[in-house]
Amino acid sequence: MSKTTKDYIRITTHSLSEMKAKGEKIAMLTAYDYTMAGIVDKAGIDVILVGDSASNVVAGHETTLPITLEQMIYHAASVVRGVERALVVVDLPFGTYQADSKEALRSAIRIMKESGAHAVKLEGGSQIQDSIERILQAGIPVMGHLGLTPQSIYKFGTYTVRAKEEVEAEHLIQDAQMLEKAGCFGIVLEKIPAKLADKVAKMVNIPIIGIGAGADVDGQVLVLNDILGMNKEFSPRFLRRYLNLDEEISKAVKSYTIDVKRKDFPNNKEQY
Ligand code: KIV
Repeated sequence: MSKTTKDYIRITTHSLSEMKAKGEKIAMLTAYDYTMAGIVDKAGIDVILVGDSASNVVAGHETTLPITLEQMIYHAASVVRGVERALVVVDLPFGTYQADSKEALRSAIRIMKESGAHAVKLEGGSQIQDSIERILQAGIPVMGHLGLTPQSIYKFGTYTVRAKEEVEAEHLIQDAQMLEKAGCFGIVLEKIPAKLADKVAKMVNIPIIGIGAGADVDGQVLVLNDILGMNKEFSPRFLRRYLNLDEEISKAVKSYTIDVKRKDFPNNKEQY
């Protein structure tokens, strides 16, 4: 999108690498629907992730595993319709890219064609290298995701900090270098020691976006519902809440219910 036709410039994967080079931090948030994506985009976010965390925060599942490709496409297409400026990245859901690279490419193509999104994100390193390379060869931008990868929760057993031990940290560094070499435009590092994230961010030239990975990375990502305070039960150390929407929504619904019950709503001005 050119500056002459609109009063904004679309964020691209290229813009993100320029931001890293300039030392400008990248702000990324999730969104799952048209209305919220529009608000987040107009507020100036750089990247919107249509995360498979929709499985948790929208659908109420305990893990991200149940969400389907069709459901991700539905969320992604809704988000894309609400966004004018931000780069829209979509998670490939569990089971749509691990079996083989052809299936991975078919899944990524469906997301790009049917939602209009700009890039896909896949969890994992060397074990899915073939899939990542095949998707990239088709011209689809790929973002990596290392550290705590929630689609592997049953392998890990817990959501605690990853790569605290040297062997796992070394493995993560090798995976990050492989993702850069393969052509990924960025990597999400989730819940790893801040020192390790800093080391990776300095080691590779592509942007490193952290969630629970400290301040010395190239950008930050959080789940929108979490920063808005929509779930009091979820309180990890890395989360900063900017609103208590849970309480605000509850107050509004209670007031509306009272107004209806006492026949105060609608009043004379609120009817035809
Ligand atoms: O699905 C998601 O929301 C994510 C972020 C936590 C990075 O992958």
